[in-house]
Amino acid sequence: MKIKNICCIGAGYVGGPTMAVIAQKNPDITVTVVDINEKRIAAWNSNNFDELPIYEPGLSDVVKETRGRNLFFSIDIKSAIINSEMIFISVNTPTKTSGEGKGFAADLKYVELCANQIAEISTTDKIVVEKSTVPVRTSEKIKKILNSKNKYIDFQILSNPEFLAEGTAVRDLQIPDRVIIGGDNTKKGNQAIESLVKIYSSWVPRKNILTTNLWSSELSKLTANAFLAQRISSINSLSELCEETGADIEEVSKAIGMDSRIGNSFLKTSVGFGGSCFQKDILNLVYIARSIGLEKVANYWEQILIINAHQRDRFANKINALINKESLNKNVCIFGWSFKKDTNDTRESAAIYVANNLIKSNIYLNVYDPKVKRSQIYFDLNYINKNDAKNKRHVLVYDRHIDCIYQTNIIAILTEWDEFKEYDWEKIYDKMSKPAYVFDGRNVLEKEELESIGFNYIGLGR
Ligand code: NAD
Ligand code: UGA
Repeated sequence: MKIKNICCIGAGYVGGPTMAVIAQKNPDITVTVVDINEKRIAAWNSNNFDELPIYEPGLSDVVKETRGRNLFFSIDIKSAIINSEMIFISVNTPTKTSGEGKGFAADLKYVELCANQIAEISTTDKIVVEKSTVPVRTSEKIKKILNSKNKYIDFQILSNPEFLAEGTAVRDLQIPDRVIIGGDNTKKGNQAIESLVKIYSSWVPRKNILTTNLWSSELSKLTANAFLAQRISSINSLSELCEETGADIEEVSKAIGMDSRIGNSFLKTSVGFGGSCFQKDILNLVYIARSIGLEKVANYWEQILIINAHQRDRFANKINALINKESLNKNVCIFGWSFKKDTNDTRESAAIYVANNLIKSNIYLNVYDPKVKRSQIYFDLNYINKNDAKNKRHVLVYDRHIDCIYQTNIIAILTEWDEFKEYDWEKIYDKMSKPAYVFDGRNVLEKEELESIGFNYIGLGR
């Protein structure tokens, strides 16, 4: 099928940037991104490119180049579905909060709603692409919905999981390690696969486009995230061992990573991984394994999350213990709220859990993040502890890092923003209460430099 019009349902962290790059690389295809969230669509259409709903380095340039040319953002979902030959489903698939699988399984209600809508509205054949991360065999469910509701139209289902990481989304999309396209091994299935291969081939070398069956593609996405998170929990578990033995986790990590069989990425110790997907995708993997009776497999993967929670808790507990032991001000300054640098996304950020733990211990917090809005910080805390009044009393959010530090003995670094390394740490030290401590939850600052200023430096695993 020749693709002239693409519709993408879901204008979020994946739908927005992915479609912007597809439009940039395929100027002859019209790409329309639709969403039920009117505010989000308005922000994508904003004349002020600083107000796009997602902060990603390089994204505003791609949107500037394509928006109005062959990239459109709209709330008219119906027209976009009718007018396109290919429809991406890129909606959220959060962990279920009720019903069967509560707390573990992925909630597919948004994906299913999209499938229903596509079936009801379509008047011509469509290729439906699963872009959202879903449990293995979800495409079977989508196919069932599409075919049972609309018997006159041929729907081909493809799985095309997304591997971009936030903060580097544009680069990851423009130079992906690989693109995976799963589809049915039938004549029409293969034709559908080829239609999508052609779109990616505009910029991705053919050898980096892997075509598979539907189930392999779906499972590859879940397991890729589980493998990445597993490395972080492995190194984080060793950071505690280093603290007890005098080894230095940065040296251990370098030594391990130089083995070419292991490789050096995802071995950076941290206060714990966050982000919208690692936890949800591992919970989902655990659920799938457990629901087919693979208890040992489920327990194995679940351990990644147990170590991650432990790493966040022990970081907060250390701060709390020091305050009590040394009778310090019950005021802690937090630098960094997003789950990693170069994004304004805070979903599952370690900062939320550390802050909540400290608030529970009656500690007051002054928070600064270069990109996260004040309202988001309160939203995150209210979501986890449902105690708006206490959060308002205990947390102050500042626009400038330098205003955060009065009457505090402790700064905790929770995100690895580059600007933290550029600060005038002597000036910060002068303004703080003494003794002054830095708890570096990302090991981004220079221990010797801070100690020479007068700080007590407490990093991870060293
Ligand atoms: P998101 O929450 O940022 O965006 C999803 C959007 O879908 C929202 O704007 C929501 O309003 C919209 N939506 C939901 N139901 C809809 C409907 N019926 N009709 C129209 N719009 C609807 O989510 P995201 O971060 O973009 O993630 C989307 C999917 O991609 C998830 O399955 C996620 O696991 C996966 N993924 C995310 C990332 C990432 O870095 N965030 C990376 C790879 C894969
Ligand atoms: C991750 C994957 O890297 C993407 O391939 C995947 O597409 C995406 O999840 C998804 O499915 O949503 P993302 O969560 O955006 O991307 O960012 P990462 O760079 O993977 O970082 C995740 C978390 O791990 C962050 O909190 C980060 O600070 C932490 N991290 C990362 C470490 O603590 N140590 C490391 O060495 C690397």
